[in-house]
Parts: sequence; C-alpha cells; structure tokens
Amino acid sequence: MALLGVNIDHVATVRNARGGSLPDPVQAALVAEANGADGITAHLREDRRHIKDADIYALKECIATRLNLEMANTDEMVSIALAVKPYMVTLVPERRQELTTEGGLDVIAQLAAIRENTRRLQAAGIQVSLFIDADAVQVEASKATEADLIEFHTGPYCEAFGSPHQQAKLALLMQAAEQAVALGIEVNAGHGLNYENVQPILALPGLWELNIGHSLVTEAIFTGLGPAVRRMKDLIT
Ligand code: PXP
Repeated sequence: MALLGVNIDHVATVRNARGGSLPDPVQAALVAEANGADGITAHLREDRRHIKDADIYALKECIATRLNLEMANTDEMVSIALAVKPYMVTLVPERRQELTTEGGLDVIAQLAAIRENTRRLQAAGIQVSLFIDADAVQVEASKATEADLIEFHTGPYCEAFGSPHQQAKLALLMQAAEQAVALGIEVNAGHGLNYENVQPILALPGLWELNIGHSLVTEAIFTGLGPAVRRMKDLIT
C-alpha cells in the first residue's frame, strides 16, 4: 500500500496549448483530492513549459492535502519555494531539451549545493526529497545531504515492464529502497507508473508515496479525471 501523489503538470500542458486559462490545474487538483489523492505534485520547470509560477501559489492556497513542488536545485527555484512554502520540495535534475525528467539527480556531483539548499528549505519547515536512480552510491550521498526522503526513479523499470529485464530493474529498486530504509530515509517512487505496472512497486521497502501524472491524465481523457484517480487509488491501497 502507498499514498498517491497526483502530478497535474499535463493539465497545464493542455491549457498552455491554447494559451488561455482552461483546463485549470487547480480545479484538476481539487478533483484529484476529492477522488483519493493524498497529495498534489507539480513541477515548476525553468522554461515554465507547463506549470507556471501563479499555479504554484494558487495550488498552495487552494488544496487541502500536501503540495509537493518538483524543481531544479537552483537559486531561483529555492527562492520561490521559500516564498510558497510547499509541504515538500522534490529536487530533480533538469535539462531544457528533455521531453520529461530523464534520469535521477547526480547527488555526488552536487553534494555541497544540495546539502546547503536542503538545509535552507528544511529551516523553513519544508521537507526535502531527492529524485535519484536506484543506485547505492547515490543513496549513500543522499543520506549525506540529510534530505528527508528519496524518490526512486521508476522509469527504467517501467520501460522494461513486460520484457525479460523487468525483474532485474525491479530488483535494483528493491535493493536501493532497502538501503534507504537501513539509513533511516523514507521512500517515494515515480515516473512512468501506470495501471499495469504499478502493483509490483508496492513491495518496495519503506514506500510512502507514489507520484503519478501522465498515465492519469491519459486515462482522464477517456473516463474523466475523478474516475482515473479513483481507479489508481484503489489499485495501490
Ligand atoms: N516524479 C518525478 C520526479 C517526475 O519528474 C515525474 C514527471 O514529472 C513524475 C514523478 C511523474 O511521472 P509520470 O508523469 O510519468 O507519471
């Protein structure tokens, strides 16, 4: 069993396709909450391609659950987080040309900068999660930053789902989550999860919350967002 964080970025993607105000990501967040979402996740990218600054402030104001702000570890984003004060910040790597977050953070390479911003955010009462690959050295480095949580990148497992590599990718996630638990770090997971591939992930040691976006918005086109969220909530609870 895991909690469900609903990522509403792609509601904003559809809105921005026409440059207007609809569909409204805040309304989507409220529908998600009414249908079992335990938290709302939104990624404020440097290029503002989907979620915009005003969305983050409006979400913080309007939602009744927890806001998880995904962002790069930059001074600009840390300033915004300190102003908005979400429940949690998830630090992610970001490259302008990528279609979506492609890999986990290299915590080792940026250890001092991540540790410093983790402290600044925590001092403001914000929990900090690091989005990393299922890699022992990155888990070890994450512990050194004193972050509260790790979010494991499930993309490689999702891509291997249904192939001969599925079990090996799942085993990597299991080992890394076990290591995180042994170090006293809580575990989130996300990226690429859908109704077919989500259930084996529920066995991850220490699992607290799954962050799921694209598959829910995809399903919502056919069934509506409420039923799409409810169906996922029922699957993971
Ligand atoms: N977690 C993180 C850190 C992400 O960057 C994303 C994608 O924005 C997700 C979870 C959700 O991934 P998906 O949209 O594939 O469900």
